[in-house]
Amino acid sequence: MSEGSRLDPWVDAYAARARGMTASEIRALFAVASRPEVVSLAGGMPFVSALPLDTLADTAARLVRDRGAEVLQYGSGQGDVTLRGQILDVMSEVGISAHPDDVIVTTGSQMALDLVTRVFCDPGDVVFVEAPSYVGALGVFRSYECDIVHVPMDADGLIPEALAEAITQARADGKKPKMLYTIPNFHNPAGVTQTTDRRERILQIATGEGLLILEDDPYGLLGFDGTVPRAIRADDDQQVVYLGSFSKTIASGLRVGWAVAPHGVREKLVLAAESAVLCPSNYAQLTVSEYLATQPWREQVKVFRELYRERRDALLDSMEQLMPPGTTWTHPAGGFYSWVTLPEGLDSKAMLPRAIAALVAYVPGTGFFVDGQGHESLRLSYCYPDPDRIREGVRRLAGVVESELEIAQTFGTARVLRDAEGPENPSPNMN
Ligand SMILES: Cc1ncc(COP(=O)(O)O)c(C=O)c1O
Repeated sequence: MSEGSRLDPWVDAYAARARGMTASEIRALFAVASRPEVVSLAGGMPFVSALPLDTLADTAARLVRDRGAEVLQYGSGQGDVTLRGQILDVMSEVGISAHPDDVIVTTGSQMALDLVTRVFCDPGDVVFVEAPSYVGALGVFRSYECDIVHVPMDADGLIPEALAEAITQARADGKKPKMLYTIPNFHNPAGVTQTTDRRERILQIATGEGLLILEDDPYGLLGFDGTVPRAIRADDDQQVVYLGSFSKTIASGLRVGWAVAPHGVREKLVLAAESAVLCPSNYAQLTVSEYLATQPWREQVKVFRELYRERRDALLDSMEQLMPPGTTWTHPAGGFYSWVTLPEGLDSKAMLPRAIAALVAYVPGTGFFVDGQGHESLRLSYCYPDPDRIREGVRRLAGVVESELEIAQTFGTARVLRDAEGPENPSPNMN
């Protein structure tokens, strides 16, 4: 039987890997959620208006005027060498020391996720991911037909013993464990951070099992108390590919991220990148490079930290005051997200249309799993709306949860448990 729309005459022609690329039914709801009257706690958009926009405008204009022939030309597939040197400076914050040759600049870290998976994963290879995990990474792993296995986490991040068990189980099932994808800092969507002990243990397990660690760290510099957790890659330059991004510390629209990888892997990544895009945008890279060279970028990161801390506080305080008993949530020490667990019996996906009717949006937990988990949870983002809007959003959401509880008490539980449901792909910009 063919899948997809009957209106699409190409339905039977698509490659097997396109089967995993499906839009969810909640996507349409997000079109409504972007209306101004809806408080969206759904999207993970950084608050770029806090940047020195005039300065960035001058930088971009100056680059074209003074170095137009270079800026508007093709560049190196590996990325601009000056920028690669500056990236080392940024990574020194998380304890990583490397050589500019170890770095490849990519079109956001999203592209690096794609390249690493392309280079390492055959269909059926097992990729271990946290439970829950980042929607955009799940989409990549699915498109390369990986066998995605969720590994439980708690308030201290991924549970190492659960990883070891999952690896043993995969081998017992005759599968090929290939890599662990992890977001150790200020997790998207769980809002938790891996402890140092756990990082060490996870590295030990991965090394013993010959498992590549793909360490994704777009939020590492956004810890609210100013401490920057040490990267796993800082302790092993052979077992780990580290991904970084300027999306949350400068501007997501510039689409500049990077990977740092062992030498042979880095060479493969450059070849894969050249076949995908020839080279990353010189204009974007040099804008970042100029900004890093001429602006107090660490001060700007502090501005972002303060701004997001205030918003995190607005979210947590108002949930504390307003959410019905039985609702729990994580307390992020940095980043953009809190993971909320609803009172027993409620279903975040079933509740979403009611929430949007009440003019508040979130992402249902099911979007962050490939195996049908997540009905009892949802992700709230506090990065974009201002604190007053966040409080108003929580007030509306608390009202919706309360009326769901009343309905559940009257008619029985609302949750419909489904077997092995596909992932949601809620929307490309719900990241
Ligand atoms: C965990 C995680 N990884 C990767 C990305 C992609 O970021 P970039 O803008 O660098 O492509 C995001 C974006 O939200 C993210 O949350």
